[in-house]
Amino acid sequence: MDSRDLLHNYNAGPSALPSEVKVKVVEAIEGIDGGPGILELSHRSASFDRVIDGAREVIRRLYRLPETHEVLFLQGGASLQFAMIALNLGTRGGFLTTGEWSRRALAEARKVAEDKADKPVELYSCEPLFTDVPTQLRPQDRDGQALDYIHLTSNNTIYGTQYKALPQRADGKESLPPFIVDASSDIFSREIDWSKVDLLYAGAQKNAGPSGVTIVIGRRELLRSPPRSARCPKILSYQTHAEKGSLYHTPNTLGIFAVAEVGRWVEARGGIEVMQRRSNERSQKLYQIIDKHEIYRGHASAEARSKMNVTFTVAEPRIESKLLQRASELNMWGLKGHRSVGGLRASLYNAVSDTSVELLCRLLENIAREG
Ligand SMILES: Cc1ncc(COP(=O)(O)O)c(C=O)c1O
Repeated sequence: MDSRDLLHNYNAGPSALPSEVKVKVVEAIEGIDGGPGILELSHRSASFDRVIDGAREVIRRLYRLPETHEVLFLQGGASLQFAMIALNLGTRGGFLTTGEWSRRALAEARKVAEDKADKPVELYSCEPLFTDVPTQLRPQDRDGQALDYIHLTSNNTIYGTQYKALPQRADGKESLPPFIVDASSDIFSREIDWSKVDLLYAGAQKNAGPSGVTIVIGRRELLRSPPRSARCPKILSYQTHAEKGSLYHTPNTLGIFAVAEVGRWVEARGGIEVMQRRSNERSQKLYQIIDKHEIYRGHASAEARSKMNVTFTVAEPRIESKLLQRASELNMWGLKGHRSVGGLRASLYNAVSDTSVELLCRLLENIAREG
C-alpha cells in the first residue's frame, strides 16, 4: 500500500483515477517508445498513432461495439456536444429534462433551432427537484409528428438519479426513436444496447480519464454525414473528425493516453459487466445505511437512485458539520453535495476503492449512532 491508498476521493469530477493508471501516465510523460514523452510528442507520429488506436480499440472491446458504431475523441467537454448534436443531427429531438445537464442540452438545441421550423420538444421534466427519471415516453411531439431522436442524461451527476434502463414507449407500440445519451458520469459502468443508441458521449473526467477529452461513440453513418445545419463550423462537424480519425486538429494527447489506460484497467478487472455488478453492490450498501437511519434522507426517489453519485441530506446541520469534519480528519475528499442540492454526495466511480466505500459506510454508521 502506498500513501495514495490512504486518500479517499469521492469527488464528482474530475475524480479518482486508478493508481496504476497514474503510474503509467507519469512513465508516458518521461518517454514513449524510447523517444519523447507524451506531452512532447507529435500527434502525427507513429507512437501517437499507437496510443489513439489503442484507446479506440479498448473502448470497442469493453463495449463489444458493433461495426455500425465508431469512436471519436473530441474536445470542448460534454457541454460542447449539446451544440454539436443540434448542429449535426438536427434539432427535432425529444429532450428529457432530468437535471442541469439535460436542461442545458435542450437550451443549446433551442438556440440552434431559433429560426427553424424543427424545434426541439421537451418530452419530460421533473424540474425543480429532479428526484426522478421517466420509464415511459411518447415518441412524438404534441401534434403527433415523429421525432428524429430522444436525448437523455443516463446519470444525473448533481442530483444522483439514473435510468435503470432506456425508457419504453408508453403506448407499448413499436419502438422509440433512437437515443442520444449523455453518459458523462456513468460511462464504463454499465452495458449499453447499441441497437437502440445512435450516439453516446461523455466528458472523460469522471469514470474514464482526465478532463479535456470527450468520448463520442456514434453510428457510423451519422458521424460521417454532413451536418444538418449548413452553418455548422467545420470544427464542430462530426464528419470532419470521423474522416480524420479524431486527428483533424491537435487532440488532447495526454488525455487520450490516460483514457486508453483507464480502459485497460477496467478490462483487466473483468470489464464493464464486473464494474456494473460492483457498482450495484457498493451503492446498495450505502443506500441501505441511508434508509436505516432517520437522520439521513436520500435525495433521489428509490426507483431512480444513481449507482455512481449517492446524494443525501443530514437532518441536523450540526450533525452534517460533524460528519464532514470527521471525514476531513480521515482524509476523505469531495463529500460535500452540489450547491443546488445541499447535503452530501458520494461519487462511487470505478476507481474509488472498496476500502473507500467501506470507510464511508462505517463513518455514516458511527455518526448515526453518536448523533
Ligand atoms: C452528466 C453530465 N453531462 C455534462 C456535463 C458537462 O461536462 P463538461 O464539463 O465536460 O462540459 C457534466 C459535468 O459534470 C455531467 O455530469
